[in-house]
Amino acid sequence: MQHFLTISQLSRAEIEQLLTRAKEFKYQGHYPHYPHRILANLFYENSTRTRVSFELAAKHLAMQVINVNLNHSSESKGETLEDTVATIAAMGITHLAIRHKEDALPEKLALMLGNQLHVINAGDGLHAHPSQAMLDLMTITEHKPDLSRLKIAIIGNIRHSRVANSLQCLFKTMNVGEFIMIAPPLWQPKKVHYGRVTANMEEGLKDADIVICLRVQHERLKAEEALSLEEYKKQYQLTESRFALAKPDAMILHPGPVNRGVEIESGLADGSHSFILEQVKNGVYMRMAILEALGGF
Ligand code: CP
Repeated sequence: MQHFLTISQLSRAEIEQLLTRAKEFKYQGHYPHYPHRILANLFYENSTRTRVSFELAAKHLAMQVINVNLNHSSESKGETLEDTVATIAAMGITHLAIRHKEDALPEKLALMLGNQLHVINAGDGLHAHPSQAMLDLMTITEHKPDLSRLKIAIIGNIRHSRVANSLQCLFKTMNVGEFIMIAPPLWQPKKVHYGRVTANMEEGLKDADIVICLRVQHERLKAEEALSLEEYKKQYQLTESRFALAKPDAMILHPGPVNRGVEIESGLADGSHSFILEQVKNGVYMRMAILEALGGF
């Protein structure tokens, strides 16, 4: 694999290989060493989980890691992003994890760079967050491996969620039994690749095996898309009583960051059905599998 840009680039066999390898890393605990590979983290949007776990994943594989501090980079002196990236590539960086608000920027950079280095999409605009979707799938399949029998519900601002977009692609390729996206009409996706959409929490949550909550992404809302937060909480917050509609052994997932008391009741986020921190943990192993699959030079 030259670049890791979107879920749609991956075949079912490649997805399964990444899952298997990530689980080996998690349970075997001994890792190969790739000291000649160098990862640069270039994050133009804030991140805790993705940035730190790519760094940790690379260090577990004995890779070198550079976290580019954009406050101190030459872009503040007028250099273009493309020139910054070409500069990094010229220094012998082998892997570049990039997060940016522009949709499809990682693909543009991958085209520009060709086989000079491996570009990894760490989240681009509203478009894709493929490593997040992969670690979500890892967390689900560890507990509920037969995807064809699952009902998976996702609640929130689907229209502005790159995670929901990547999950749609992933669940399509993996043939998930039922995928339902629950959102108020203003936040429903304009295009649906897989599954169906409802504004009705009861219909969406009934007998769900997996419930995924999303943060309300205020920073991506246009003025005409803003909803009253109080109204949203009243209708769409995951509460104990709403979660009781799901199956008794249902799992709660959230890509984070969690806004407690907004999209989810705080007690549920910490409760026995919550796998939110397990997702974070699996993120390290999944990103190790991705870094390894990208190979070296
Ligand atoms: N899920 C996710 O992308 O979290 P961060 O923004 O903290 O990386």
